[in-house]
Amino acid sequence: MLTNSVGIPMKRIGVLISGRGTNLQALIDAQKRGEISGEIAVVISNKSKAYGLERARSANIKTEIVTKKTHPIREEHDKRVVELLKQYNVDFVVLAGYMRLITEHLINPFQNRIINIHPSLLPSFPGIDAQKQALEYGVKITGCTTHIVTLDMDAGPIILQEYVPVFDTDTRDTLAERILEKEHEILVETVQLLCEDRIRVTGRITKITGE
Ligand code: GRF
Repeated sequence: MLTNSVGIPMKRIGVLISGRGTNLQALIDAQKRGEISGEIAVVISNKSKAYGLERARSANIKTEIVTKKTHPIREEHDKRVVELLKQYNVDFVVLAGYMRLITEHLINPFQNRIINIHPSLLPSFPGIDAQKQALEYGVKITGCTTHIVTLDMDAGPIILQEYVPVFDTDTRDTLAERILEKEHEILVETVQLLCEDRIRVTGRITKITGE
């Protein structure tokens, strides 16, 4: 069992992805730099060709694939993911660009232990293409949010947020790129808070202890 510098067991992190995995990469890099006192125990993808799987393999992290094809029934899909997370002894789960709605079969066994990163200042612009939604709405400030995952999509208790300005010249992609940089920062910060067991959740309010 890996321990940190004061002999406390390192938290084991499960990361769920669907795509390119830059948020996963931010976690891998932070782990290498010693900025998170946890280890990524497994990366699970619902897409067999997700580039994030390559990133995990290059970092010698175990990978698993659970797809719609292998598990067409939503309940069975989530149950298989839970089985794997338990098999790898995962303490908490990070949705890092996991483009799939999850059910109570995954949420209940990991109550308050699943987090998501979303590219807007929630509760504004939940759901897909939050950056495009922000541009089309005409907001001058947007950002990103980490939150606890509940059954309601993008609506769980907020952990950290960071703002990002919107410029007149922005396209969806330039805005997404600027938000992404901040996503990587707050995701790493949030994961470290989880590793240190410093997030308390009461109703929909989170508090960070030891500040
Ligand atoms: C990020 O913008 C994240 O907020 C959203 O999906 C995107 C995933 O990007 N949920 P990546 O796969 O981590 O590069």
